[in-house]
Amino acid sequence: MRSALYGPAGFYARGEPPALHFRTSVHTSARYGELFSCLLSAVDRALGHPARLDLVDVGAGRGELIGQVLAAASGELARRIAAQAVEITPRPAGLDPRIRWCSSPPARITGLVIASEWLDNIPLDVAELTRAGPRLVLVEPATGDERHGSAPSQPDLAWLRSWWPLGELGERAEIGRPRCEAWAGVIRRISRGVAVAADYGHTKAARPPWGTLTGYLAGRVVPAVPDGSRDITAHVALDACAAAGRTAGAGATLLTTQREVLRALGIAGRRPALALADTDPRRYVHELCLATEEADLIDAGGLGGFGWLVQAVGMELPAVLRRRRCQCRWAGVVPAPAVTTRKPVSLCRRCRRVTVPVPLAPVTA
Ligand SMILES: C[S@@+](CC[C@H](N)C(=O)[O-])C[C@H]1O[C@@H](n2cnc3c(N)ncnc32)[C@H](O)[C@@H]1O
Repeated sequence: MRSALYGPAGFYARGEPPALHFRTSVHTSARYGELFSCLLSAVDRALGHPARLDLVDVGAGRGELIGQVLAAASGELARRIAAQAVEITPRPAGLDPRIRWCSSPPARITGLVIASEWLDNIPLDVAELTRAGPRLVLVEPATGDERHGSAPSQPDLAWLRSWWPLGELGERAEIGRPRCEAWAGVIRRISRGVAVAADYGHTKAARPPWGTLTGYLAGRVVPAVPDGSRDITAHVALDACAAAGRTAGAGATLLTTQREVLRALGIAGRRPALALADTDPRRYVHELCLATEEADLIDAGGLGGFGWLVQAVGMELPAVLRRRRCQCRWAGVVPAPAVTTRKPVSLCRRCRRVTVPVPLAPVTA
């Protein structure tokens, strides 16, 4: 997987733009970037508006997301942001000159780190349970033919025992140890701040028995043949990354879904009232498009089902990552904060009493 993606003729090493081959949340809607700018403001507030606020996007692709988040910031906040895209591919032409483009994250970070669909592209090995025990799966790069290799290393076997125990002959596990290490490496660099990993994921309670390795090429799902022609990805054991992050210094953790987080931030994906089509057809169409994009971002069977691992170092998780709920008899009603105001609504819409924060539904590990 490493040479297929990052070797001399590898898919990413060649500089293939992800958007030509697959669609991520940032390609789906500008709302995604807006939400991260909302989160950045919340982190800034919680940090007491530091003189330098780091905004780091790891695995930044073509810099679309970090560009949007930076563009949304204004005034004195914009002047304090130190934006850095971390990428192994070359800097794209036309990127905002305020964004630094580097191959590794800054040594010390105070602010927000975003890793949107980064961890799933960190190369890993696959192990299959054979009669002789777990064996690495070796793949012929040109054809995709497979055979068994040696036993995984002791650290990999230990990772498998903790995070992805193989139960039956023929079952496969994707050894996520390199991802845990990569994530821990990011957390260790944060002095104070929040890191978000948004990715396809699973937890120990529901590992896929035959793994998730998949190829993407020109918008299609293709076999994961490691010949360098295509993206190769595997879902992320996010609970294992969370544990690695805690060991690396994260004090607070939220592991939930994109749907939960985005809904807490006010994304509803609700169609505009039909009456608007008569009174203001242009606005109706605009709002309908927005609602469609939002629905895509929170679709439980699609992007909304992505895992969000949020970890804070030296601070609490920002309050915007909590739903607020009223204890009045309308207790089922969740008044969503409006993202654009950046000021969470704190009164129940029905009884006008103050709402209380409730935790987002966690993913069970
Ligand atoms: C699936 S793309 C995601 C791009 C973008 N974040 C998005 O959501 O559209 C993953 C990106 O991570 C980059 N990447 C993978 N490993 C990396 C590493 N160790 N350091 C920097 N970038 C890396 C790849 O080059 C690729 O552009």
